[in-house]
Amino acid sequence: MDLSQAKHAFITGGASGIGLGIADALAKRGIAVTIADINEEALKEVLATRGNQFRGIHLDTRDRDAWQKAKDEAEGAFGPVDILVNNAGIAPNGQPFASMDPESFDRIVAINLTGVANGVFAFAGEMCERGKGHIVNTSSQAGLTAAIPGVGAYAVAKFGVTALSENLRMEMAEHGVGVSVLCPGLVKTNLAANTVRIGGDVRKYMPAMPESDVTPADVGEMVAEGIEQDAAYILTHKDVWPGIENRMNAIKAACDYRKNA
Ligand SMILES: NC(=O)c1ccc[n+]([C@@H]2O[C@H](COP(=O)([O-])OP(=O)(O)OC[C@H]3O[C@@H](n4cnc5c(N)ncnc54)[C@H](O)[C@@H]3O)[C@@H](O)[C@H]2O)c1
Repeated sequence: MDLSQAKHAFITGGASGIGLGIADALAKRGIAVTIADINEEALKEVLATRGNQFRGIHLDTRDRDAWQKAKDEAEGAFGPVDILVNNAGIAPNGQPFASMDPESFDRIVAINLTGVANGVFAFAGEMCERGKGHIVNTSSQAGLTAAIPGVGAYAVAKFGVTALSENLRMEMAEHGVGVSVLCPGLVKTNLAANTVRIGGDVRKYMPAMPESDVTPADVGEMVAEGIEQDAAYILTHKDVWPGIENRMNAIKAACDYRKNA
């Protein structure tokens, strides 16, 4: 999508980290931005340091009814949404499946996967009718390869986001709407602290996130470029391929085995 034609972006999880990086990158290109987030305090803090090109909306992406209200409010202020970024998410809980707390599984899937689907339900139909727009869904490197133990519930949700995005991209193409899936590697954000804040469990995972040389601002620029290029996949790190390749090689070996059986 030609970003000079875009007027309004709606970004979930936009009050922190990667979502805020994307918001700043799009705002820099003259696009009005609605940041929707469950964290009202963070929304206030961000809005206090941004101009009137920004608006904040309190939204829990799990709440389907609230999505319609949020959409009406955002579009009432800035007009139809051209770019939807379904980015809100929480961290993995570090629990192996065999001993996983089912509530934690449900929370991770509800926010990281169903929350993304809810955004699509709210906005995609009208984008099709208008015949333009772009949707970015935040998955993860863990949505391309399940290589780390203890990330199971998160990987379930993030593989789901990748699958949702690949299917949506096929379906939306004929309507002139682009779809990208963002698959970040490690980016230094407030993910662990924010996960705990909303009742999530990261006790066994990332008490402090290790340093990363990729910042939310870098990711914001990568996403802006990805939208411009209508990229199917937006990756943030160079070292992701070996894990994916191992998985693909195992699938190819199974295909070859069947072919030759
Ligand atoms: N940081 C990383 O290393 C990394 C890597 C891969 C994927 N991701 C993904 O990137 C996305 C952004 O995470 P981040 O690292 O910027 O973390 P972050 O915590 O800084 O930002 C996430 C934002 O989402 C909000 N949020 C959480 N649940 C919500 C809900 N139900 N409704 C509305 N808002 C909600 C939080 O309040 C927070 O402002 C997430 O989907 C995460 O899974 C992050």
